[in-house]
Parts: sequence; C-alpha cells; structure tokens
Amino acid sequence: MPQNTEVNRQIVLAERPVGAPTSQNFRLEDAAIPTPGEGEMLLRTVYLSLDPYMRGRMSDAKSYADPVEIGAPMVGGTVSVVVKSNLKGFAEGDWVVSLGGWQDYSISNGEMVFNLGKEPAMPSWALGIMGMPGFTAYAGLLEIGEPKPGETIAVAAATGPVGATVGQIGKIKGCRVVGIAGGAEKCKHAVENLGFDVCLDRNSPTFAQDLKDACPDGIDVYFENVGGAVFDAVLPLLNPHARIPLCGLISQYNATSLPDGPDRIGMLMGTLLVKKIRMQGFIIFDSFPNLYPKFAADMQQWIAQGKVKYREQMVDGLENAPEAFMGLLEGKNFGKVVVKVGD
Ligand SMILES: NC(=O)c1ccc[n+]([C@@H]2O[C@H](COP(=O)([O-])OP(=O)(O)OC[C@H]3O[C@@H](n4cnc5c(N)ncnc54)[C@H](OP(=O)(O)O)[C@@H]3O)[C@@H](O)[C@H]2O)c1
Repeated sequence: MPQNTEVNRQIVLAERPVGAPTSQNFRLEDAAIPTPGEGEMLLRTVYLSLDPYMRGRMSDAKSYADPVEIGAPMVGGTVSVVVKSNLKGFAEGDWVVSLGGWQDYSISNGEMVFNLGKEPAMPSWALGIMGMPGFTAYAGLLEIGEPKPGETIAVAAATGPVGATVGQIGKIKGCRVVGIAGGAEKCKHAVENLGFDVCLDRNSPTFAQDLKDACPDGIDVYFENVGGAVFDAVLPLLNPHARIPLCGLISQYNATSLPDGPDRIGMLMGTLLVKKIRMQGFIIFDSFPNLYPKFAADMQQWIAQGKVKYREQMVDGLENAPEAFMGLLEGKNFGKVVVKVGD
C-alpha cells in the first residue's frame, strides 16, 4: 500500500538485533495519522535518509543518544512537507528537513527543523551532500584533519556520502587523495567521477600492500570511517604529526564481541606517542555548532563550480527501507541511500 491520507504507515523496531540486523527486527504497522496541537505541525514524509548511526539506535548499549524503544518507529532524518501548521514560521506546503522517522506522517514542534521553502531545487540533497553527511565530511576533515597542500589523505567508504565528500574536499585543498572502497566499480567511480588520485579495493587479498604502494610518502590525514582491517593497514603508514578525524567505525557496528587476536592497544598507543599523532572523535550533532553556514556556502559554490559531485541511491517505498538499511551496513549501497516514501 503506498502513502495515503487514511493511515500512517510506520516501520517500528520489533526487537533488538544481535549482530547484523535481520528483517525480523523491523515491523510495518498502520497507525492513525496524528493531529497537531497548539505550537505543533503535521509533516508528511517525502524522503527518508538511511544512515549507519541507526544501527546504534537499535541497540540499548549506552551511547551519545537514546535508543529507539521496542515498538516505536525507527528514528531518521526526513525531508517532509507541512500538511497543517499551528506553528509560527511554518506554513502548509513548506518543505522541511526534520527528524520525522521511518513513517509517513510525524508531528513536530519545530525543534531541529530547517525550512527549505516552497520549491526547493533538490530537496533530497538536504539529507546528503547539503546536510548531515556532507557537513560531517567538511567539519571533520577541515577542523580536525587540517589538510595542507601536497599532503596525502586516505579515506574508506570512499563512494558513500561522507567518504566521497572528504575525498573531493581533499582535492580542492590540493592534497593527494587515496580512496578505499568495496569493489572495482566503486573504485572506478571514485577515480573517474570524483577525482580521487587512486582507489583501492578493501576486499583484495593484497589490500595492505596495495595501500602501502599507493602511499609512497605515507599518510598525513586518515579520515576514519570504518576501523577494522582497513585501520590495521593504515596504522604503519601514518606519518609523524598525522591527524585522524575519528568519524565512524562501521566494521564494528554489528559486532557482538571484541575481535580475536592479540591486544593491539599497546601498539596503537605507541604509534600515536612516538609519531605525535592526533586522533579525535567527533559527533556532528553537537561538535561544530557554528560552522554550518560556512559549510553551506562553500558546498553550494563547489557544487555550482562542478568541483563536488554527488551520487544518490534512491529506494522506492517505505516498505523497502529495512532491506536497504541492512544492505548499507554490508556495503551493498552505492552512494547516499534515500528512501522515497511519498510523492
Ligand atoms: N561522527 C559523526 O557524527 C558521523 C556522521 C555521519 C556518518 N558517520 C560515520 O561515517 C561513516 C560513513 O557514513 P556514510 O553515511 O557515508 O555511509 P556509507 O559510506 O554510505 O555506507 C557505509 C559504507 O561503509 C563501508 N563498509 C561497510 N562495512 C565495512 C567494513 N566491514 N569494513 C570497511 N568498510 C565497510 C561500505 O562501503 P564500501 O563497500 O565501499 O567499503 C558501506 O557502503 C560511518 O561509519 C558513519 O557511522 C559519523
């Protein structure tokens, strides 16, 4: 059943996953369309963003944000249209970026909502290159990575919305950019369309040696999106005074225990110490409160100049969100995953 004006289709968290999420962890339900009260508005979802952080919200382990309750709709950023507004500053027909979640309709009091106006040019881009992932790449790379012309940047998940943006900003800043991605097709895209200097397949049996060969001058900025085997290959190649914006660790998101093998914390800390390396974690929701306007201005200009390109993977229908999300965690996506929920 497609989106309609009779019911509010929701995808709720049916149970918490153990390891990789399965379709049993999600349930499609019909609820009543809510009525907005005073100081509230009713939003109809057009686009839903799927992002790796949602795996963390499915778990009740302590984190920087509360987990989704069992039986509650999954959380998620949306581009929505105002259906009815009892809220100053928002009128019927306005397009907004909001945290509407995995459902057709949501109620908002305007907090964390950004008004895109009546006829935004590319509304879904507000969930990607012009929104949270694009801003994550920009802020993490420029504020923590501090890239300088001639330096080498390495970044994995290189064709996703964060990695692709990191690499392209790196090129704008005059760096050599080494991408890492899953498979030949993604690597070809990173080099031919995004302008990376080289891109390596993380699944190749010779990956660690390939990375060494691709970085004859070492690595000055490693933008960490994935952790795991990629980080193991990067660590010995880091230069003195390297910077590591610690953005994500997707290789661990489905893990149920620590990896096998010897404890490598001593080696990691020893490398950070003797090479005077700076590694800094950040969460985009609260780490750079005043930087968004500068990001938006720079990014609009780079896109207009053709210096930044953007690839979306559009999934049709709310009911297909769970499968697309599970695929995202396995690297089956190719570009920013957005679900088209309604017209
Ligand atoms: N700190 C923050 O505030 C913040 C904000 C946004 C995103 N992030 C993080 O940034 C990272 C990228 O996010 P995104 O939205 O741009 O995602 P994305 O690149 O669209 O999707 C994730 C990608 O990770 C790669 N991957 C999956 N499993 C992997 C594994 N075991 N080892 C290595 N790579 C693996 C896959 O790419 P390949 O198949 O090409 O390898 C997959 O397509 C994620 O870790 C996310 O959690 C952090």
